[in-house]
Amino acid sequence: MRTRVSDMLGVEFPILAFSHCRDVVAAVTNAGGFGVLGAVAHSPEQLETDLTWIEEQVHGRPYGLDLLLPQKYAGADEGGIDREAVRQLLPPEQQAFVDDILRRYGVPEIDQETRDAIFRSGGALSISPKGYEPLLEISFSHNIRLIASALGPPPPALIERAHGNDVLVAALAGTRTHAERHNAAGVDVIVAQGTEAGGHTGEIATMVLVPEVVEAVKPTPVLAAGGIATGRQIAAAMALGAEGVWCGSVWLTTEEAETQPAVKEKFLAATSKDTVRSRSLTGKPARMLRSAWTEEWERADAPPPLQMPLQTALIAEAQLRINRSATKEGSGAQQLANYFVGQVVGQLDRVRPARQVVLDMVTEYAEVAQQFADQVAETAGAS
Ligand SMILES: Cc1cc2nc3c(=O)[nH]c(=O)nc-3n(C[C@H](O)[C@H](O)[C@H](O)COP(=O)(O)O)c2cc1C
Repeated sequence: MRTRVSDMLGVEFPILAFSHCRDVVAAVTNAGGFGVLGAVAHSPEQLETDLTWIEEQVHGRPYGLDLLLPQKYAGADEGGIDREAVRQLLPPEQQAFVDDILRRYGVPEIDQETRDAIFRSGGALSISPKGYEPLLEISFSHNIRLIASALGPPPPALIERAHGNDVLVAALAGTRTHAERHNAAGVDVIVAQGTEAGGHTGEIATMVLVPEVVEAVKPTPVLAAGGIATGRQIAAAMALGAEGVWCGSVWLTTEEAETQPAVKEKFLAATSKDTVRSRSLTGKPARMLRSAWTEEWERADAPPPLQMPLQTALIAEAQLRINRSATKEGSGAQQLANYFVGQVVGQLDRVRPARQVVLDMVTEYAEVAQQFADQVAETAGAS
């Protein structure tokens, strides 16, 4: 599976694992792939702890970090809103709507201490310079090999700083135009992410997007993302011109994943039809499991979701309350529970260690590649 990307990263397999869970990141890196820690919701203290822990586990093997760097968000003109100030900006109409959902579904309250902790953190994402600068400071003091940015091109100062620290820069693209913008900004790797993907996603399918992006940004290497959970799908991505893959959903049902137990159960039972692009978790369209939560926000009389990062702050306490009670079979909380996941959720039907997922992918990829090679050899032999 050697490609330019595996050489650039110094890994055996160009299989990149996006995860908010440090255990998954370390396990994939230790299996010969490349773990990338999603840090947008980390506080600086948490990030310091997690990066130190990852480095203790991977013994010098490479890993990376991912941030969301959107261009459009609430407070962009002032360089962002302080975490503490975010909650003051939540409109009463949306707050009442969320309270009403929790009341109608009978979701139990949480104690005051937990509520205060969420209030203090603002429940917000670090998407503005005010939020992400402290995270970058910590990241560059660690041994990261790659920094990835989603939702917008990485700012020139970030690219310069990364390159000055011998850190590669990747950026996620959902359209050819996004990819061209990232390429012009000077990123090292472009992740072409199709609509099938879990999390923030565009409207173009991986099958169409990847070859389009490969052509548009060459010679910059491209990773394929969205709908990839098996060796067959990796082989397909490589056939489209990708030099590796970037996967998110497949790690959510691994042994190491921090996925809430009730949500994990739902993922294991779900089919590929059970996801929806919804603005109900972050304010921007993101693919997630369809549940009573997404359906409530789709109601004709629902208020519009707020801009990022306000929507995340609006729903932080509600999501915590839902997740705490969702294990109770048949409860309102269980009906509401959901999380980001892509259409490959339909293929996620058992829990495996993350290391096993990597090994299964590699084995199946090798089998498929051999089949292709045999077919070509037979055809050549027959002619
Ligand atoms: C639970 C979850 C959270 C995600 N959060 C982020 C994020 O914070 N930053 C990011 O760049 N991508 C995020 N993504 C998208 C992934 O990086 C990746 O592109 C996507 O999962 C690939 O498609 P797949 O889900 O079909 O594997 C997220 C995906 C999932 C499933």
